[in-house]
Amino acid sequence: MTEKLEIVVAADLDNGIGKDNKLPWHIAGDMKFFQSLTSNTTGGGRNAIIVGRKTWQSIPEKRRPLKNRLNIILTKNQSFEAPQGVLVCDSLESAVQVLDGIEHERAFVIGGAQIYKETLQNPMLCTIHLTRIMQEFDCDAHFPPIDDRFALAAVSDTMEENDIEFRFQRYERKSAM
Ligand SMILES: NC(=O)c1ccc[n+]([C@@H]2O[C@H](COP(=O)([O-])OP(=O)(O)OC[C@H]3O[C@@H](n4cnc5c(N)ncnc54)[C@H](OP(=O)(O)O)[C@@H]3O)[C@@H](O)[C@H]2O)c1
Repeated sequence: MTEKLEIVVAADLDNGIGKDNKLPWHIAGDMKFFQSLTSNTTGGGRNAIIVGRKTWQSIPEKRRPLKNRLNIILTKNQSFEAPQGVLVCDSLESAVQVLDGIEHERAFVIGGAQIYKETLQNPMLCTIHLTRIMQEFDCDAHFPPIDDRFALAAVSDTMEENDIEFRFQRYERKSAM
């Protein structure tokens, strides 16, 4: 099977995604969207999430591993200790190879900035689920600009929570000419 990778990210108007290894905003509607997108399956199997070591450590201990999903942490640290059932890989390519041998439906790359940057160069990336936060926050981590290899395929209505407007956008890789 050829793995297809999907990115899930929330970014502000300046592509800011984080500050001090935390999300700069709290938007329950976006958390719910993330939860259902990455958890729901059609065939009763499970999805995989691929996460950078820093983002993993930013998830509160009681909420990790992300339940009902195969969790794969990327780190170069060979002595990194992960909880039982969580896989550790030392490159995106090795995560894709590992996934090839494990039954799953979809594979979501959930950040952070370093992992997004690398995934955007990976030919297996097919879809970007971007929650666009319609403000600018103070951020020290950013998502790279989405270039013209990808086209906007769907946009939701604008929603608002705690005076923050946001909308869900889906970008798909353009097919080769
Ligand atoms: N808004 C959003 O949707 C969203 C989503 C996720 C995260 N974030 C934010 O993003 C920020 C974290 O991003 P970040 O760039 O600092 O960290 P990160 O991408 O989460 O993790 C970086 C770490 O991943 C490992 N790594 C990176 N590339 C690798 C590779 N090719 N192979 C194996 N391991 C690799 C390294 O771990 P080792 O150092 O252990 O080798 C590296 O230090 C936080 O502020 C977080 O809140 C935002």
